Amino acid sequence: MNILLIGSGGRESSFAWKLSQSPLLDELFISPGNPGTKQYGTNVSLDIDNIIELSKFIKDRKIDMVIVGPESPLVNGIYNKLKDLFPKLMIIGPSTQGAMLEGSKSFAKKFMKEFGVPTAKYEAFTKDDFDKAIEYINSMTGPIVLKADGLAAGKGVLIIQDKKEAIEELKKIFEGKFGEAGDTVVVEEFLDGIEYSVFVITDGKKFKMLPIAKDYKRVGENNTGLNTGGMGAVSPVPFIDDDLMIKTVVKIIQPTISGIWQKDIDYKGFIFFGLINVGGDPYVIEYNCRMGDPEAEVVFPRLKNDLVELLQSVYDDTLNEHVIKHGPNVAVTVMLTSGGYPEKYEKGKEITGLDKVKDSLIFHAGTKESEGKLVTNGGRVLAITSLAETKEKALETCLKNAELINFEGKYYRKDIGFDL
Ligand code: AMP
Ligand code: GLY
Repeated sequence: MNILLIGSGGRESSFAWKLSQSPLLDELFISPGNPGTKQYGTNVSLDIDNIIELSKFIKDRKIDMVIVGPESPLVNGIYNKLKDLFPKLMIIGPSTQGAMLEGSKSFAKKFMKEFGVPTAKYEAFTKDDFDKAIEYINSMTGPIVLKADGLAAGKGVLIIQDKKEAIEELKKIFEGKFGEAGDTVVVEEFLDGIEYSVFVITDGKKFKMLPIAKDYKRVGENNTGLNTGGMGAVSPVPFIDDDLMIKTVVKIIQPTISGIWQKDIDYKGFIFFGLINVGGDPYVIEYNCRMGDPEAEVVFPRLKNDLVELLQSVYDDTLNEHVIKHGPNVAVTVMLTSGGYPEKYEKGKEITGLDKVKDSLIFHAGTKESEGKLVTNGGRVLAITSLAETKEKALETCLKNAELINFEGKYYRKDIGFDL
């Protein structure tokens, strides 16, 4: 089978690593990919918004499956566009409507309400209902959560203690702080608990659950400082006992899949449930229509199944024949980032020491080749993943290797998994 994987981050590097192990794979292309993905396939530079260019490549290279890593092409409708042209192409990622579970927070909240999926109480407002929004905020107790409806590169969520400040921020959002993404804003109650990430592969009717993970979004140790794309992750998550696991399946995953089916949404791909455990009960913080990053970097290394076979099964209706197998070991990933991230940071710093790494997997995130050298090319630069019997041992290996890799401004959290 020939596969085209779309994306260029640590998530796509771990996808490429995992896909390349499948005996079913003939050729793997990654667009645009990065120096890490090149080890497992061929990087190609396609303008994926240009459907003519993309279609030509799919035809010329006899692509059987397209896997869409990031959310934005999905929200922008890549599934429907390709499906119209290539009815037999296996596209991993939902239709435009399915992608709205991530692309529109108000759509997602309405969906959850309709299908009884537990989530924070909320109301959605546009600029025209600013007065109603003020009234709603004034009626709330506890911190106020403001969410720009559309994609805002992970920055569209504000948690504010003070009502007056929340109203001022809401005004700024309506004035364009997050662009069009903030034309509608979800105002919701704050949920106090510990977060975890659940991933399923679904064909829109059935699902299989992948290993559970937890990511560390804050830049600073002890979960302090600004939110980032993710500074590290751990899988499995020990606080998820049988009771919470059963509730997660029965109260969250099953009604979500059932809703997708009842609404007749074409969905063949991953659903990433961003969940929070509030006193033993799971609530949905957000849906994503793709794998997590850096969660993929711990989930795929633990997954024993052939990923190509699993993904193919959502198209030939054999998903239920698969049993998800994963090792008993713990995976930890530590992200090496550029100093300053998630605010201003510099790129183009030479990376050295990768040849000294032992006992860890290295997934490239923001790197590129320049004049024969490997240099930094993003905030999140490299993901170091280690597997061991305990998370302490896995973290120790990550940290040992983090020391061996060098670039100017290198920064990483040394406490990934500290709260588990
Ligand atoms: P999101 O982009 O929806 O994942 O939100 C970003 C982060 O904001 C989440 O990972 C949570 O840490 C936090 N968050 C979002 N919604 C809530 C909520 N209702 N209560 C508490 N924390 C939240
Ligand atoms: N790690 C969070 C995300 O991928 O959105």
